[in-house]
Amino acid sequence: MNKILLVNGPNLNMLGMREPGIYGSDSLEKINAQLLKKADELGCSIEFFQSNCEGEIIDKLHDSVGCVDGIIINPGAYTHYSIAIRDAIAAIKIPTIEVHLSNVYKREQFRHTSVTAPVCVGQIAGFGKLGYELALRAVVEVLKGE
Ligand code: DQA
Repeated sequence: MNKILLVNGPNLNMLGMREPGIYGSDSLEKINAQLLKKADELGCSIEFFQSNCEGEIIDKLHDSVGCVDGIIINPGAYTHYSIAIRDAIAAIKIPTIEVHLSNVYKREQFRHTSVTAPVCVGQIAGFGKLGYELALRAVVEVLKGE
């Protein structure tokens, strides 16, 4: 059974109360509970990790080597400037899919650049919480092809 890790970065623990017009009204706990069911349907397991700290996210990515088959990551604002998280994704060589709840390309100019997407298999943005489910389905398909 494939093991998938979902990493959520800074401020995503505030989902539900954080700018609901942009990010939706569901809490991260609720989104994770729905993903757990989806993972079950897809025949994979899913582990959840959220941190507001760059170093903790990098440590979690490093610790995934040999334990996890695929990664879904919403790096939050780190998307736009964390070369360190980009380098960690590149280093671990685990197929990784980037997700954004909002369509970052419709928003402020500084959100139009992702330094992490080029080292990911692909990026899903603008579909709200559905993006995580789409990413889960995508990563399972990617792993089938490996
Ligand atoms: C986000 C988009 C980022 O620009 C922002 O800093 C976030 C959330 C999204 O999911 O739409 O924290 O990654």
